[in-house]
Amino acid sequence: MTAPVADGRDRSIAREVARRRTFAIISHPDAGKTTMTEKLLLYGGALRQAGAVRGQRAARHATSDWLELEKQRGISVSSSVLYFEHDGKRVNILDTPGHQDFSEDTYRTLMAADSAVMLMDVAKGVEEQTRKLFQVCRLRHIPIFTFVNKMDRYGRDGLDLMSEIEELLGIDAVPVNWPIGAGSDFRGVYDRLGEQALLFSGGEHGRSKVEQDVVKGSIESDAIRAALGEYYDDVAEHLELLDGAGARFDLEAVRAGKQTPMFFGSALTNFGVRPFLERFIDMAPCPHARLSDTGRVDPVERPFSGFVFKIQANMEPDHRDRIAFLRVCSGRFAKGASTRHVRTGKLFRLTKSTLIMGKDRAEVEEAYPGDVVGIFDPGLFRIGDTLSDEGDFSYAGIPSFSPECFMRVEVAAVLKRKSLEKGLEELVQEGAVQLFRDMRGGSATWMLGAMGPLQFDVMKHRLKGEYGVDLELSPLPFKLARWPQGDFDPEIFRYSERLRVVLDQQGRHAVLAQSTWDLDRALERHEELVLSETAEPALFEGSNQG
Ligand code: G4P
Repeated sequence: MTAPVADGRDRSIAREVARRRTFAIISHPDAGKTTMTEKLLLYGGALRQAGAVRGQRAARHATSDWLELEKQRGISVSSSVLYFEHDGKRVNILDTPGHQDFSEDTYRTLMAADSAVMLMDVAKGVEEQTRKLFQVCRLRHIPIFTFVNKMDRYGRDGLDLMSEIEELLGIDAVPVNWPIGAGSDFRGVYDRLGEQALLFSGGEHGRSKVEQDVVKGSIESDAIRAALGEYYDDVAEHLELLDGAGARFDLEAVRAGKQTPMFFGSALTNFGVRPFLERFIDMAPCPHARLSDTGRVDPVERPFSGFVFKIQANMEPDHRDRIAFLRVCSGRFAKGASTRHVRTGKLFRLTKSTLIMGKDRAEVEEAYPGDVVGIFDPGLFRIGDTLSDEGDFSYAGIPSFSPECFMRVEVAAVLKRKSLEKGLEELVQEGAVQLFRDMRGGSATWMLGAMGPLQFDVMKHRLKGEYGVDLELSPLPFKLARWPQGDFDPEIFRYSERLRVVLDQQGRHAVLAQSTWDLDRALERHEELVLSETAEPALFEGSNQG
């Protein structure tokens, strides 16, 4: 343990905070997130050979078989916290499940990140899943870095992608570097900020490093003209257009989430990964003060605190344990120390806590703001819970996001109603599936909402395995949920087939709709209606960063 220094600030905590970079990668499936993660780990020396992460990919894409699902869940957990050291910095990658049906998990994980890397396929640009995840980052105003991947294949022009980002996502995209050649002729990047050409050779999937020739000089210089050869005119022309369009990098705008720096590369061949990593580490923010219900909590000045952003059960089929993933927000996490579980006021001893790295788990002795620690959960935790030595504040809770699939729980056939209730309540706390109650007709009908049908399969299997209940579900036509703000009359859609007012698990009203079209019509008819895409958004209004 390091003793606090005289002025009350612990210098070692300040140092540890300053060197941490905690981020998540957002992308559409197949854009190359797994490959990129692996390459970053290779650079950091956390992996010795390529394939260790990719080998798990097949299981991740499995869809039906439960064993595969278990594996998939295992992967989403075991790869939840990846970290490495690079250039004196501690880089934490909050990895997220690859499958779209588990994207609520990704949304919540983004609440624990200090920045995000938006990875896109050069041929595809901004895809649906990227757009959704981007909106979640937007909600938190976290800086977003764009990596245009698969440059070893022919794709779209960089300028075209820039305007797509600006149009679809409403954020200025400013290339930090520009590709030299493309497809099989992708030779390197011209680094606009450093005024240098980085020319790659020798890249391949299994290697962590590529040869990188560095030629310094402005784009007008003879040295760069000679180095770029036949590619010179194309690059010079694009850079002129960028300068003409005023696409200038502005770190303040990046930190405020108003501008996204853009990088080009190929995770598969490794071209452009290192230039990206180095700039990213320089530009990405370290952990800042976080919003709580009593104001901002400084990561260095305040004693230990953190919040639970994810709960994962059944990590090992033999041990039905639950692990709560805690993002450390202030002070030092020290093994064995006692802290306060704010919601219940109970003292909680940080005895069994683990760092999960790939397949390995290690006991955590200490951790700092920006780190994620897995805590064995005796059934105490809920998503969004705060742990804090001071014990008298809570971090802004984690919002519920709109599910995209809804099912009715058929209770008529259920013999073990008590077990069903208990099971549903406990599993819903893990956050994969949301529970709603429809009060129409006097008695409650239960409904489940999730991002995708796979979640229902998981729920069914677990209710059977852990609570001995057969869950029967029948599909409902709803596709989204919105949460009314301010005064709301729950009778408003009483006679509507396409909209339904229900209660969510916290007893708040939610409006389920069959489509955004239905929602838009309702908003036109009821001008007083204010609907939010997430529950409890007020806590996330404004920046969550200090
Ligand atoms: P994901 O996690 O985002 O779903 O993507 P993942 O990394 O698994 O990559 C999806 C596919 O794209 C893989 O090919 C992968 O090899 C390929 N890929 C990733 N980065 C690049 C890149 O920079 N260039 C090119 N050309 N391809 C890239 P696959 O055929 O689906 O799998 P595999 O047979 O390679 O395992």
